[in-house]
Amino acid sequence: MKSEDIDQLKDRFLKEVKKENSSKERKKICKRYIEEELSSVFCSLKNLSGERKAEIGKKANELRKLISDLLENEKEKVFQAEKEFDITLPGKNVELGSIHPITKLQKKCERIFLRMGFAIAEGPELENEWYNFDALNFEEDHPVREMQDTLFVKQKNREELPSQERFLMRTHTSPVQVRYMKDREPPFRIIVPGRVFRNEATDSSHEINFYQLEGLMVGENISVANFRSVVGYFFKELFDADVGIRLRPSFFPFTEPSFEVDVSCSICEKKGCSVCKKTGWIEVMGAGMVHPNVLRSADVDPSYFNGFAFGLGIDRIAMIKHKIDDIRLFYSGDLRFLRQF
Ligand code: DAH
Repeated sequence: MKSEDIDQLKDRFLKEVKKENSSKERKKICKRYIEEELSSVFCSLKNLSGERKAEIGKKANELRKLISDLLENEKEKVFQAEKEFDITLPGKNVELGSIHPITKLQKKCERIFLRMGFAIAEGPELENEWYNFDALNFEEDHPVREMQDTLFVKQKNREELPSQERFLMRTHTSPVQVRYMKDREPPFRIIVPGRVFRNEATDSSHEINFYQLEGLMVGENISVANFRSVVGYFFKELFDADVGIRLRPSFFPFTEPSFEVDVSCSICEKKGCSVCKKTGWIEVMGAGMVHPNVLRSADVDPSYFNGFAFGLGIDRIAMIKHKIDDIRLFYSGDLRFLRQF
């Protein structure tokens, strides 16, 4: 062994510790050099002649001192850091959020329909007039196309654009019926949960945005009886009660015939209460047999296929379920309200 070997060992050591930026790792390196590298140097000293032994021994001792000083220094640093971290102080309280009641209800509806073999589809919130109105058989002069009902997007020379290029915030989830069917082959069984927008002066039962759940089943020989059975099962599961279903004639441009669907009031069991306004029935969705023009818009041949569609307001169901009297609470961000769910 030569005295340069100790110089080299020192260089190697310094290089290694400088590269390391964790104190714990630096301590490990120091220990390794003392316990392994230097101790083998000291072992081999006995084989050397007097003079070399003294020279190399001195250098090795200096190196050991340097390393053990560094080790002490690192230990002190860790000790200081631990002193600064006062384990007796109370911890920072990280508050857990909770799932929004609308989301919770949406997920519950999804689970029920998934069990019946429905798939979940989605569509854009920024929609064009063709999907939102034309494809759904809305007349050119339908009142919902007016500025005061719908939130239109400002566009240059809007009037001159084709309806596929005139944008608006979708007023319902029904346009997804056509979007979904267009590039696919029947049969279809889907639900479409999503946010919709209306140009409303808000009050306790109207908001400028709310959530809907659209349903669509298209195939061969689908009947109103199939519809009754599907929604009957859905509402029984949703309200966890043996609720009855009632269909009343109605009108929607995209269904023929159209119905309003009522469920029997599970709160008073049809005896009459404030939720059902003493009628024993609660209006819960619009529905009907898909209009042949809607199937045509989606390139589905109405002479082979038919089906039913429905749309329910998730907010409205949540309000009935939890006896909430103001829809605006859902969008207020008020934690006193939200923490209850
Ligand atoms: N889109 C309707 C609305 O927003 C709800 C609706 C009614 C959807 C009847 C349907 C339906 O699919 O068949 O008021």
